[in-house]
Amino acid sequence: MNLLLAWPGSETLAQSLGLALSVPVESPVTRRFPDGEAYLRVGEVQGRDVAIVASLDRPDEKTLPLLFLADALRAEGAASVGLIAPYLAYLRQDRQFLRGEAVTSRTFARLLSGAFQWLVTVDPHLHRYHSLGEIYSIETAVVHAAPEIAAWIKANVECPLVIGPDSESEQWVSEIAGAIGAPYATLEKTRRGDRDVEVTIPRIERWPGHTPVLADDIVSTGRTMVAAIRRLAELKRLAPVCIGVHAIFAQDAWQALMAAKPARIATCNTIEHPTNAIDLTAALAAGIRKLV
Ligand code: R5P
Repeated sequence: MNLLLAWPGSETLAQSLGLALSVPVESPVTRRFPDGEAYLRVGEVQGRDVAIVASLDRPDEKTLPLLFLADALRAEGAASVGLIAPYLAYLRQDRQFLRGEAVTSRTFARLLSGAFQWLVTVDPHLHRYHSLGEIYSIETAVVHAAPEIAAWIKANVECPLVIGPDSESEQWVSEIAGAIGAPYATLEKTRRGDRDVEVTIPRIERWPGHTPVLADDIVSTGRTMVAAIRRLAELKRLAPVCIGVHAIFAQDAWQALMAAKPARIATCNTIEHPTNAIDLTAALAAGIRKLV
């Protein structure tokens, strides 16, 4: 791969990846016509292996222009076109729960697989799929944020107790906790609606005096974190440090989380956000090198 293209909003990570991989970084010309249609223009790419760095939060506004861009690159003679999507969208709907529902994960995977030769992402939100290979027909590589999160906790939190968002996260939080010799627990979560979450924290009395560290793969509405912070306050525990891999912070999520008064919020730089504190450049560069 010998050219990185930075999609708007992913420029900072694209620049640091360019440095780590010793690959030049350019930006395509992108703008919207008054009627909302996308305009795109690429530079000289004849014979070059190109990768676009585009985090796919707010995927509906990004995907169509991204497909146009991949097509334009091929039309201009790029030898190959890959996608580095630190956050990969549309994994939630992985089956039909009700008759007639669109299984958007499959359609999205088919669209991206038709436009790119390869895909690298960070901790995709897989539930019923075991791997991206079940729905993506191109080569994919998954980078894990757990080692960098563990290192960040070790450097920044005294006597941590790592807490995962639900029982499904047990393997993930136990890996983070194990790497730094910390104990861990998982929340028992009941979600009654998008913004209506209730949690309990079993067995937390076993670790008095520890600093709770809530670690989640996605902070979307922020309500899981807010509910956990409230529960910890009821239990008269220290305010927690909140860590998220993907800082989606939909609508008022960031304000809601700040209002709950955590000790600190730290996210990975898969989606650009003021809370970014855990740099995954080196991990992503290693994942890209392995695949390409
Ligand atoms: C659940 O499966 C995830 O790990 C997160 O807990 C969830 O996506 C967080 O969502 P929210 O921020 O909307 O509570």
